[in-house]
Amino acid sequence: MSVTAGRDGAVAVVTIDRQDALNALNVETLTELRDRLRELAADDSAQVVVLTGAGDRAFVAGADIKYMSGLGADEAKEWGALGHEAARLLEEMPKPTIAAINGFALGGGCELALGCDLRYASSRARLGQPEIDLGIVPGWGGTQRLARICGLGVAKDLIFTGRMVEAEEALRIGLVSAIADPVLDHSIEVAQKLAAKSPVALGVAKRLLNLSPGALDREAEEFGDLFATEDAKEGLAAFAEKRAPRFVGR
Ligand code: CAA
Repeated sequence: MSVTAGRDGAVAVVTIDRQDALNALNVETLTELRDRLRELAADDSAQVVVLTGAGDRAFVAGADIKYMSGLGADEAKEWGALGHEAARLLEEMPKPTIAAINGFALGGGCELALGCDLRYASSRARLGQPEIDLGIVPGWGGTQRLARICGLGVAKDLIFTGRMVEAEEALRIGLVSAIADPVLDHSIEVAQKLAAKSPVALGVAKRLLNLSPGALDREAEEFGDLFATEDAKEGLAAFAEKRAPRFVGR
């Protein structure tokens, strides 16, 4: 099992553990994550959910690029839909969700964090949407949620350039709410405070705050279409071959 769900009273802690790939998500890990989140969404005894990555290097370094390099457009749409489902569960389950960002949160990792209601970072965390350098775009909600949370200007900066931000900048641009070490302890502490509040009122507050979620369906579709381009095949292959991509514009 690469995704475990532990308990601290009414607080559930979900840990993604695939450390040899910096917790990047392949089909098996992402499916397990989706399944754990579904269970927790339906479990009234879990009042707050904390999501984190195992080890001290990564929250999640993204979708598994080596897996994605073999995908055609239709398969990429299914893959995008699975990631969207996990992020949507975090965003919509009727209880607060918290990302404890203990290292790299890149691409799909940043997008899962954006699906959470609250984000806290360790001082070593690095966040970003580097998909552009692979010849693709964020495909698990990033084009919509990053703009909604940090504003359109910040989202265009991060998504066009693909640059990573350190914890301090992430705090300044509103991508995380606080920097804390150890970040999991801080996240559990906040989660315990939330667990003492009315779950009914929290659920209604969350639902109201989430109204008008943007054009998520459109993103899933166009993310998949990009996998039919030469640039996506080149960008994804170049990562595995540890070389710079040569984009041709089609
Ligand atoms: N997919 C697959 N494998 C990954 C990975 C990923 N996203 N991120 C890291 N790994 C693997 C590396 O290939 C490496 O494996 P090997 O030892 O077998 O070569 C291992 O994890 C350790 O990584 P590095 O040696 O690269 O570690 P580093 O410290 O030199 O660099 C890093 C760390 C900057 C995070 C670098 O690994 C990196 O750039 N990773 C890719 C980040 C990325 O582009 N994420 C976005 C993916 S696309 C996406 O998520 C699409 C979407 O919207 C759904």
